[in-house]
Amino acid sequence: MEIGILRSSFKEYGSRRLLEEASKVGKGVKLDPRHLCLILGNKLDGHSIYEKDLARFDVVIPRFRTKYFDFGLLATQHLENMRIPVLNSAVSIKTCKNKYLTSLTLQKKRIPQPLSAVALGTNDIMRVIKHLPKPLVFKTIQGSEGFGISKINNDGDAKDWAQTFAGFHAPIYIQEFIDHGGEDYRILIVGDKIAAAIKRISKNKNWKTNISQGNVAVPFKPSNELKELAFKCTDAVKTDICGVDIAVDQEKGPMVIELNQFAGFKGTEKATKKNIAREIIRLAVKKARQ
Ligand SMILES: Nc1ncnc2c1ncn2[C@@H]1O[C@H](COP(=O)(O)OP(=O)(O)O)[C@@H](O)[C@H]1O
Ligand SMILES: [Mg+2]
Repeated sequence: MEIGILRSSFKEYGSRRLLEEASKVGKGVKLDPRHLCLILGNKLDGHSIYEKDLARFDVVIPRFRTKYFDFGLLATQHLENMRIPVLNSAVSIKTCKNKYLTSLTLQKKRIPQPLSAVALGTNDIMRVIKHLPKPLVFKTIQGSEGFGISKINNDGDAKDWAQTFAGFHAPIYIQEFIDHGGEDYRILIVGDKIAAAIKRISKNKNWKTNISQGNVAVPFKPSNELKELAFKCTDAVKTDICGVDIAVDQEKGPMVIELNQFAGFKGTEKATKKNIAREIIRLAVKKARQ
């Protein structure tokens, strides 16, 4: 059994752990998107590659860095065309990576989320926010680990940030601020099971709870309501592996903040003492080519 992890660098804890657990049940192989050459065409049996032969993989777990996102996505779709199982699929990776595409998908299923908008250019951003209650959160469409996110308290803040984003010709994803008191929940779904759940607590009573920003994780037992909400999300985006982030608004109740297609799980393994990498590899083996 050859299990490929599609990633360029293995400094990231989750990718390293996956490789480690994969090697316990078969052969865990580093599949570096930088060394792939994808060719379509019958003569080459459709699929050629510089350093490694893609056809040898029984299953692949894409986990590529944002830097190689476009190419990683192509490689994932290419593998799917070759009928090599991938966790997650190209379409679910694409949806979850883009915060507004995620929102559109959740909205179709009437899943509760903060009021959201997207706009490009200072004037339009200022026009859009007139319709939204303050404070707001401005985000880059594809950010992660709490980077590229700012709280906007008033029109002055909004204009500053709108001009900054406009300087990069980047759209702003705008969300209503959820007053969660510096705590939210991450429910990690692997296949049709909750592999682990944590409560993330902001250390300085700040509003960002990302563990990668030094915040704290404690084990958490989700209520049936939260479990149902998390599964509704993964049904909507059709992921095999997904970190569902939920914040609870004092008045409106639980709201889905975002979905993570390559969820980091260092903090989650540490807090819950669960072997999440093993769960993911077990699912990969179950889905692998027979
Ligand atoms: N609308 C919001 N209201 C309140 N807090 C938010 C909101 N959006 C994000 N946050 C906080 O900021 C953190 C990072 O935001 P998120 O959208 O998950 O981006 P990233 O992909 O960078 O993790 C979240 O975990 C949450 O704690
Ligand atoms: Mg997040």
